[in-house]
This record gives sequence, structure tokens and C-alpha cells, in this order.
Amino acid sequence: MPVRTIIEPFRIKTVEPIRWTTREEREQLLRAAHYNLFLLPAEDVLIDLLTDSGTGAMSTRQWAAIMEGDESYAGSKSFERFRKSVQEIFGYRHVIPTHQGRAAERILFSVMCKKGDVVPNNTHFDTTRANVEFVGAEAVDLPAQEGREPATSYPFKGNMDVTGLERLIERVGRGRVPLVMLTVTNNSGGGQPASLENIRAVRALCLRHGIPLYFDACRFAENAYFIKLREAGYQCMTPKRIAQEIFSLGDGCTMSAKKDGMANIGGFLCTNDDALAQQEKNLLILTEGYPTYGGLAGRDLEAIAVGVEEVLEEDYLRYRIVSTAYLGDHLAEQGVPIMQPPGGHAVYLDARAFLPHIPLEEFPGVALACELYLEGGIRSVEIGTLMFGSAARMDLVRLAIPRRVYTQSHIDYVIEIIQEVWRRRERIRGLKLSYEAPFLRHFTAWLEPV
Ligand SMILES: Cc1ncc(COP(=O)(O)O)c(C=O)c1O
Repeated sequence: MPVRTIIEPFRIKTVEPIRWTTREEREQLLRAAHYNLFLLPAEDVLIDLLTDSGTGAMSTRQWAAIMEGDESYAGSKSFERFRKSVQEIFGYRHVIPTHQGRAAERILFSVMCKKGDVVPNNTHFDTTRANVEFVGAEAVDLPAQEGREPATSYPFKGNMDVTGLERLIERVGRGRVPLVMLTVTNNSGGGQPASLENIRAVRALCLRHGIPLYFDACRFAENAYFIKLREAGYQCMTPKRIAQEIFSLGDGCTMSAKKDGMANIGGFLCTNDDALAQQEKNLLILTEGYPTYGGLAGRDLEAIAVGVEEVLEEDYLRYRIVSTAYLGDHLAEQGVPIMQPPGGHAVYLDARAFLPHIPLEEFPGVALACELYLEGGIRSVEIGTLMFGSAARMDLVRLAIPRRVYTQSHIDYVIEIIQEVWRRRERIRGLKLSYEAPFLRHFTAWLEPV
């Protein structure tokens, strides 16, 4: 008989207390934070769903490996273990450690791109976009049509629009496209996976035009598991084998180990190109460090070496994907509008549908996020008008789930709080800005109730 209750596939060995606050305290704290959840002290948050980046819990194996960290400046044993572990899965010739994902992006684009170039992606993450634009190139998002419809459920909403990619290459010319990127899973597109069929089609097009294909691999294991669940022909393959198949179709990748590296810090850049690797290592030395540590301690390299293996364990991935879907499905059952289907690392509330009486200039996403904090001490993040201004196509509230941190009862509590907020949604009021920085305003903005 198939098991219906998917349990957390771990026992808890160390605990970190979380702190209850009263509603009066939260009202006061929120006022002091100018209605911007980034400005709250973390200790005043009960359940922190701000991000899944670097917020996961490490395993006993990772903590044990940390004690083996070799802190030699050059040629440390920890680097060799890290390289072996990464190469076993990713398969690329050169593995260059960095302090996190955006450092790998900066090095990659500095070496491969110049002013006037165009870099297509299924959807660029904000740091990827910023690093492409920083070197004077243009970052172009080409999500497949299904990925643009929040309420409709498709298995691979993270796919790239291959026809759009072909048209773009023809329009701007192959000479202006130094590389194509694919983000797995597609974070800015709702944590949705790309299929191997789509990755193969992108690869074939890139080969035809002689353009290298790189992966933004942050959530590669979640993407691999979605392929196992949803794509015909992969049910009997292990997530590791699927991940190897994905990476065999590319020329390299950038990676933030703060996600599917199961570490609190770290990242890497991979490539098969010897000449590029040499230039990348030269740049690495300038700002990150020597190529056998790249801005990380030896113990961090050890944690990542174990993390990329553990993240591919099937018990873990089953629990990860099922528990994220558990949150999304329970909310949707109550009529709460969410982006469908739930992603690998997060559930996104559709704030425009949740609070249709709040006009966009009064930030429905921020109003909803503040209300979740007031009602139950839950921290989430708005991805909408405050973050992107008038360019926002949606107003979403992302509930990102840290890896191996919260249990089912925490998630049941989150569901209960959101249901309560949903019941009295008509009484929620909008917010207005009282201070904004000239760029990336969402991090530091001050707001107040209208
Ligand atoms: C898809 C994607 N790419 C790149 C990054 C950047 O990684 P980091 O925060 O380690 O610099 C992130 C981080 O959230 C991400 O989600």
C-alpha cells in the first residue's frame, strides 16, 4: 500500500527556540520597521519564510565534515573533496569556488560578455540580470507561454520559449549572443521546473548556432525530481542520474550553494572551456581568493561537498516537493489564490486576487505580507509593485521554505494564519510610501497605512 503521510526524513538533534510575540508587540514592531518586513529583527519573527537561501539546516554528516575542514591557503584537501563531489554530479572540467552565486555570475559575465551583447534566459534572477547589465549587455527573459499564466497548472512552467530564442538569435545575430542561460528551477517564474525535452531543444538550437549553454543551477535537485515525477521516461531514473543528464547538455553553470548546496554560504562556477577557466581564475584571485578556496573557508567547502550529495537523496526530495505542495494545496482548497502549481521551494500568494479592493499604488502584496506578520508572526516577501515599480506584471507574496527547518505543524500553523487573514481580507487596508531609495527600494523603503 502506498504511504499517504510523507514524514520529515530526519530526526532533530539540535533545536533553536523561536519566540512568540503578542499582537500588540507585533503592531509596535511593524510600526518601528516602517511596515517593511526586511527591517524587522529576525528574533521577532516566529516563522521566517523570507527566503530559502542560506537558511537551511545542516545534517550531522555536514557538521562532521566541517570539523575536517582543511584551512590551507593553497591545495587544501577540502577543495579536492569539494571538486570531486561537484564533478561527480555536474561533470564539468573546471570547478571554481565562489563565496555565493552572484560572485560566480559576475565572473562569468565579465569574461564572456561585452557591451551590446544579449544574454537570453528562461527568466533571469535579479542578481543575474544585474550582473549582465553591469557589463553593458542586455538580459532578455524568454519564458514559455505557459509560465506567464499564474492560475493555470502546467507541469513545466519553467521551460524556455525555444521559438522565441530562435527569433532572438536571428534578429540580433549570433555574434551578439555569447551564451544562453537556463535557470533550474525558474525562481523568478515561481520555482517552476524546465523539462529535459525543453533543455534538449535549447541545447540543439545552441549547437546549431555555436552558442554555449550555461545553467543557473541553484535548485537543480528540485528540478531533477520534478522531471522524475512529471516527464515520461524518467520515473525509474534516480534524481542524481537525471541531474547528470541535465548538466551533460550544457557547457558550464553558476551555482549558489545556499540553495540546493544545502549550505549556509558558498557557490561555484563551472566550465568545460580551458581558456575561459584560466581567465575566470585570474579574476577570482582579484576579488574572491585563490582558486582552491575562492572566498570560502575549507569547512564551507566540506559542507557543500556533502550537501550536493544529500540534496539528491530521494527521501529528502520527496519530502521537499510534497511538503511545499502540502502548503499550496491546503491554501488553494480554501479558495486562497496562489500561483499554480506550487513550486519546488516556495508557494506564491496572488495578492491582486487576494485583495482586489487595494489599488496597485497602495501595494497589495506588501499589505498582505504585513498582515501575515501581524496575524501570526510570519515573515514573507512581496514580489510586485514595491519591488519592480510599474514594471510589475503581478503582485505576489512569496512563502519560501527553508530546507529541513520547519516541520508539518509549523506549516499547518502557517495555513491556519493565512486562512484567518483570507476570512477577513476585506478589512485589510493599503499602504503608501514615505521613503524610497533610488534603486532596489524594497529593501529599505518606509511605508505607512493609508
Ligand atoms: C535563481 C537564482 N540565481 C542566482 C541567485 C544568487 O545567488 P546568491 O544569493 O548566492 O548570490 C539566486 C539567489 O536567490 C537565485 O535564486
